[in-house]
Amino acid sequence: MLDSIEKNLHSMNIDEFRKDLISWYLLEKRDLPWRLDQDPYKIWVSEIMLQQTRVDTVIPYFLAFTEKFPTLEALADADEEDVLKAWEGLGYYSRVRNLHSAVKEVMSSYGGIVPDTPEEISKLKGVGPYTKGAILSIAYNVPEPAVDGNVMRVMARILSIWEDIAKPKTRKIFENILYEVISKEQPSEFNQALMELGAIICTPTSPACLMCPVREHCHAFHEGVQSDLPVKSKKKKPKQVTMAAAVLKDEDGHYYIHKRNSSGLLANLWEFPNCETSIDIVSQKEQLVNFLNDEYGTDAELEPLTGTIQHIFSHLVWNISVYTGQLKPGSSYKDLVKVTETEMQRYAFPVSHQKIYQMSLQ
Ligand code: ADE
Repeated sequence: MLDSIEKNLHSMNIDEFRKDLISWYLLEKRDLPWRLDQDPYKIWVSEIMLQQTRVDTVIPYFLAFTEKFPTLEALADADEEDVLKAWEGLGYYSRVRNLHSAVKEVMSSYGGIVPDTPEEISKLKGVGPYTKGAILSIAYNVPEPAVDGNVMRVMARILSIWEDIAKPKTRKIFENILYEVISKEQPSEFNQALMELGAIICTPTSPACLMCPVREHCHAFHEGVQSDLPVKSKKKKPKQVTMAAAVLKDEDGHYYIHKRNSSGLLANLWEFPNCETSIDIVSQKEQLVNFLNDEYGTDAELEPLTGTIQHIFSHLVWNISVYTGQLKPGSSYKDLVKVTETEMQRYAFPVSHQKIYQMSLQ
């Protein structure tokens, strides 16, 4: 550990810090649905959903998901199609595909009980250091740190740590600190208190230091540098991709949809047939017609451009021109599934393709 961090850590009254933090949490914590019991399965689901997604967004998904799959066994037995549908709109779908295969692994290797040791739980798909610490501490009261971006922000300020939190190796520094700082008696409350502090007091911009239960312990507050911490280098700009998509129907009103590849971006989700196109918007429709013919063997007639939608991923921006079109009577098709409008509701589509569908109805 760096000398300056070590110095600040050891000048801190760790006992008092824990006490101030946990007593504030017990008084002020929000009533969140995953805090109603300590079921390791539900804690797990909530922690996976909360990665990269805000609490307000997660709540309705968590309630619906745990109603549909109330136990680990129910999720393990579910069809992937239904599991993806329950995650539809949350994004980062590999999270739920990993969760699904991990709960199957818990059924087959651990008798349906989520393992309670760092070694075993870390072997499960999608359970990285953060999720490991969160499940073990919150569900099993094991004193393991759970370090995400919010926890790094809080601790960077408390101990005046100027390492770049965007660098993967920085997380280890915070983990090592937290192995010392975490309450050994109340690790569940301690970790949740740090998360809660990051969410409602020690926010990214304009932290509410005057309401903070641990400001006495905070180096950044004393030095007046809370707004300069944490140090977080900017990610590079996402790549712009130009695309065209076709919402194809036949004369009976059926839709023709495609299941995405089983690996890569949005794996196993459904989509309207689409392709990358050159930036030359003039010939886009022609490029799409040719693609539909080459890839799916269709004979389709497209209407003029309906409109464009943009969808932003963390590393990528899709700029999609939306076309509607008719499959000509007697047209062949392959690698597409023909569905009625009602049947289509059962399939999980990424948000970008929900937007495409909505636009096609205009
Ligand atoms: N963010 C990540 N985990 C959380 C939790 N358990 N409660 C609230 N916010 C969180």
